[in-house]
Amino acid sequence: MSQSNILPRRIRRFKQKAEDWLNGAGQDSKKLDGSAVLAAYGRWAPVYDLIFSGPLYWGQRAAVNHINTLQGNVLEAGVGTGISLRLYADHLNITGIDLSEDMLKRARRKVGQKRNIKELRVMDAGDLSYPDNHFDVVVAMYMITVVPDPNKVLRELERVTKPGGTVILVNHFSANTGFRSTLEQGLKRFSHRLGWNPEFPKSHVLGRIHLPLECEETLPPFKLFTLMRFRKPA
Ligand SMILES: C[S@@+](CC[C@H](N)C(=O)[O-])C[C@H]1O[C@@H](n2cnc3c(N)ncnc32)[C@H](O)[C@@H]1O
Repeated sequence: MSQSNILPRRIRRFKQKAEDWLNGAGQDSKKLDGSAVLAAYGRWAPVYDLIFSGPLYWGQRAAVNHINTLQGNVLEAGVGTGISLRLYADHLNITGIDLSEDMLKRARRKVGQKRNIKELRVMDAGDLSYPDNHFDVVVAMYMITVVPDPNKVLRELERVTKPGGTVILVNHFSANTGFRSTLEQGLKRFSHRLGWNPEFPKSHVLGRIHLPLECEETLPPFKLFTLMRFRKPA
C-alpha cells in the first residue's frame, strides 16, 4: 500500500480516537460534576507533570513569589500533583488539599525533605473541614474553572481565610472575542472529559467573590493566565 493510502487512514483513525476520548465513550453524563472531575484527573495524573509543568510554571512561580513575602499558614486548594510545593519558602506552613487521590499520591512523593509541608489531604474545596478564619493565605492555581460549583468554592476559600489574610487565584479566563473565544466555545462540550470548563470569564470570579481585589497580573505563556490577589478586610 502506498504512503498516501496509509496516511489518511492513520489520520482518520487518530481523529476517531481523539473524538472517542473527548466524548468519553460509554459515559452517560456530559456534565462537569464531581465524578467527571475525579475520572478526568485519574486519567491526567500519570502524565500531568510531563504535559503541564511547563505551561503552568509561570503562574505557580508568580503566585508563590507573592506568598513567599507573607507569613503563616498557607492553604493550597487543588494542589494536584504538587508541582508548586518545592517553590514555597521554608518559613511558611503549607497545607494542600485536592479532590483526587490519584493527583495527591504524586504530590506526596514530592514532599521529600520539605518539612514545611504539613498536610496533603483529599478534600473538596467546596466543603472544607477547616474552621473559619484559619489560614493566613489561601491559593488556588488552575482550579476554579475545574470545579463543578465555583461559587461554593469561592465562599469556602473566603471563609477559611483570616481577616487581613490573602486569597490568590491563578487561572485561565475565557476571551470574549477572536480565535481564542472560538476555540474555547468549541471545547466547551468536552468539559466533562477534559475536567475543565474552557468557557469561564473573569466576571464569574469578580462578580462572586466578596473580597476587594488588590492586584491583577497577566501571565505567560501568551498572556493566557491571570493572577488575582484579594485581601480579606481585617
Ligand atoms: C488543573 S489541576 C491544577 C493542579 C495544581 N494546582 C497545579 O497548579 O498544577 C486542577 C486540580 O483541581 C482539583 N480539583 C478539582 N475539583 C476540586 C475540588 N472540588 N476540590 C479540590 N480539588 C479539586 C483536581 O483534582 C486537580 O488536581
